[in-house]
Amino acid sequence: MKKLAAGNWKMNGSSAALAELSALIATHPAPACEMLLCPPATLIAQAVYHTRGTALLIGGQDCHAKASGAHTGDISAAMLKDAGAGHVILGHSERRADHSETNVLVKAKAEAALAAELTAIVCLGETEAQRDAGETLALCGSQLHGSIPAGANSANLVIAYEPVWAIGTGRTPTLEQIGEVHAFLRAELVKALGEDGHGVRILYGGSVKPSNAAEIFAVKDVDGALVGGASMKATDFGAIVAALSAA
Ligand code: PGA
Repeated sequence: MKKLAAGNWKMNGSSAALAELSALIATHPAPACEMLLCPPATLIAQAVYHTRGTALLIGGQDCHAKASGAHTGDISAAMLKDAGAGHVILGHSERRADHSETNVLVKAKAEAALAAELTAIVCLGETEAQRDAGETLALCGSQLHGSIPAGANSANLVIAYEPVWAIGTGRTPTLEQIGEVHAFLRAELVKALGEDGHGVRILYGGSVKPSNAAEIFAVKDVDGALVGGASMKATDFGAIVAALSAA
């Protein structure tokens, strides 16, 4: 399994930020892991052009569940593919919260992604209240089984475990807590997909930074990271790529 360092720029960055891509490629021309950045949709085509022929992959942050039609402001999976994206993040907690995305919708979007030959990065994770109530595993299990697309396999599906309370807060779960959820998700993936479930990459996300990346990557069944804030700077994201390459 090739591990994956994925960056999510969210609603940040302009064409000037593409310089960070060049810096990242210059310092990490051939990492041992996969290296992916998901800029805002407006930058995808430029970013693809900017990174052609390099090890840096470009993805989207969301897609519509339908292939085309009267959906003003939305972007289809086929459009992301056409722009040169190879991956799409789906069901991020910010979309689940801001746009009331349900597991049913996330699953439909993931199926659209697979139909367009994109790799779907399906996000899930508990809120702080859910963790305090002891609901973390049950919640993650229901999000996993509710969001996995038909036709999923280890080549076209990536799972990102992102505790909502750790995103953008500087707080992270203990390594034991991360290990517990990743082991649980691995077992559930094997239940859902059979032996191939062992090959699905499970990323950890939520306040990953250069100073904590190596210890997180040493946890069993952590196969990479989904990085928000620290992916905006080539030096920070590059350090995370280096830690994953060494893990
Ligand atoms: P963060 O965001 O690294 O800024 O915590 C992670 C994410 O939302 O994917």
